[in-house]
Parts: sequence; structure tokens; C-alpha cells
Amino acid sequence: MTSSTLDVRMAALPGTTLERHILDRQRRAPGATGNFSGLLQQIALAAKIIGSRVRKAGLAGVLGLTGDVNVQGERVQKLDVFANNTMVSCVEAGGHVCVMGSEEVADPIPVPPEYPKGKYVLLFDPLDGSGNIDINASIGSIFSVYRRLTPGQGPGGLRDCLQPGRDMVAAGYVIYGSSNMLVYSTGGGVYGFTLDPSIGEFFLSHDNMRIPTRGRTYSVNEGNYHKWSPSVQGWVDWLKSPEAPGGAYSHRYIGAMVADLHRTLLRGGIFAYPADEKNRSGKLRLLYEAAPFAFIIEAAGGAASTGSGRVLDVTPEALHQRVPVFVGSAEDVDEATRMIA
Ligand code: AHG
Ligand code: MN
Ligand code: MN
Repeated sequence: MTSSTLDVRMAALPGTTLERHILDRQRRAPGATGNFSGLLQQIALAAKIIGSRVRKAGLAGVLGLTGDVNVQGERVQKLDVFANNTMVSCVEAGGHVCVMGSEEVADPIPVPPEYPKGKYVLLFDPLDGSGNIDINASIGSIFSVYRRLTPGQGPGGLRDCLQPGRDMVAAGYVIYGSSNMLVYSTGGGVYGFTLDPSIGEFFLSHDNMRIPTRGRTYSVNEGNYHKWSPSVQGWVDWLKSPEAPGGAYSHRYIGAMVADLHRTLLRGGIFAYPADEKNRSGKLRLLYEAAPFAFIIEAAGGAASTGSGRVLDVTPEALHQRVPVFVGSAEDVDEATRMIA
């Protein structure tokens, strides 16, 4: 190939597409069948559809509540339902999954009888931070993928969904922010892709993301301060005191885990949702929120703890189980767990 052909080629592609990135990695993985690549493509399609709807939410009449309350006891937003249904319809026909689980749906979501059942399980929070929808602040989607446990090629079930995070195959999130990004990991590294809206394609923008070993911010709903245990109060008091390493930490809290942890991944620091006297196990859901982010942040060199152990070592007993979380830079998480022990 002459150098001029090469120049022309480089100019033709603005960067590495998500599809190309997945395929390149698949070719290097011995025994890969392409099933995982196919599944990720369908998730990316769902992300584009959800992102496009989020962008025009104020015009499309999809702001506000449906009037229903979900399995979590939370008021359901119209976009929660749209995002949930989009993810299910993009994935169910692909033949890659045997069952799905969603924060918005009480029971495991079966694959309809007319479609083939695959070897993977997909769990997701279709829209995270839905309280931010109506105020035009960042929201996201979170997903994780496991191998099925039930043998054969029939439908999967609850057992397939209740796996500890350490057995996860992949996890990712999408942030609908000032730009839309998809970040995913299969454990080896963490890769971020930014949507080019003029082309409708995700391009690699953040290669091999690493979280700083220590940050300068803490991210927690401090309105819960008086409901926390004295040890959690003491830890936060210390973080904002001059005794904290490098001096008092800054406080940042968007109220959407995706947005708060995206910042934490890029800048370092710690995000927490501790247990409190109202939420005895914290607020965040193990399978849809805590475990996927624990997987991503660990893969980026950080840590994720429940306060008494690794988030990824918790074996779920129920689909919608909650868990306290302390996630972020390794040194910050280490200090938090020592101080609240
Ligand atoms: P969701 O919108 O999926 O229900 O999640 C909201 C979660 C999470 O994104 C965020 O970190 C947390 O709720 C915020 O809770 P508080 O409002 O209690 O701080
Ligand atoms: Mn959520
Ligand atoms: Mn949600």
C-alpha cells in the first residue's frame, strides 16, 4: 500500500468505532463466537434511541410521571418506561440472551417464545437518575452481562440473574450529558466512546481509562447526615476538615449515579451511598447499579466496597436487593472502609 492510499484511508474514518473496537478484541479472544459483540451492538443501538429521545424530551411530551409506582416504590417517569422498553426490544430478538432483568420490572424478563435463547444474561437500569430528567441534567443507563447458569438452550430464569458481580462478563454505562458517551469493560480495561451525533456512531474517545489512585472530591447525599451511623458521619466530617489528605475535599453531587461516577472515574475521589436509619441496606440496587459500577471502577484500577467487603463478592438473594456502596479511587475507598468499620 502506498502512503497516499493510507492517508486517504485515515481521513475517511474519524476514529475507531465501537463496532470495530469490539470486533478487534473479539478476534484476539480465543473461542469468541461473536455473541457478545452482537449483544453490545444491540445495547449501543438502544443507547442511541434512548439518547435521541432524552435530547428532545421537552418537545416530545415525554417529561413527567406515568402515574405508576415501580417495584422499588418509586414514582415512574415516562422516560423510565420508554428506556426500559427500548432496551428490551433492541435485545430480545438477537438470540444472545436467555433472560433479562430490569430495575423497572419486578420479575425476570423472559425472551418471547418466537426468539432463540442465547448464552448470556443482561441486567440493566434503563434510566438512572430519572429525577434529573425534568431539569435537563445528566442521566444515564447502566448494564451488566453474565453467562447463563441454567444448562441448555431454553429460557433462563431467576437463578441466572442472581450471580455475584465477580462472575460478570462485562459491564457498561451510557451517559446522556453534554455529549452522549458509552463506557464499557470486559474486565481487562475500560473504554469510553463518544457519540458523533452527525453520524450516529460511537467513536473511541477515552482509551484504557484509569481512575486516579486518590481524588479531591467526595460525592454523597449529605442531606442524610443525621440518619447515618456515627462512623459514617465521622468519615465525612474528616473528609471536609483540614486534616484530610491535601486539605478539605470538595463536595460534588449530581444525584445520578452515572453522572457522579463518570466524574469520579475521570477525576478520582469517592462516591458513596451508605446505609442510613431509613435505608438499612443503602438505596442503590446491587444488580443494576452497584455491581456494574464496581466492575468498571475495579477494572480502571479503583475499588468498590459495601463498607464490610467487596461489592463484587456479594451473592444476591433477590433481584432488587440494595447494598451500601463506597466506590472510587483505591486510596479513598480504603480510608472510607477503615474509618467506618
Ligand atoms: P434511579 O433514577 O435509577 O432510581 O436511580 C437514582 C439513584 C442514583 O442514580 C443516585 O445516585 C441516587 O439514586 C440518588 O439518591 P438520593 O436522591 O437519595 O440522593
Ligand atoms: Mn439508578
Ligand atoms: Mn432507574
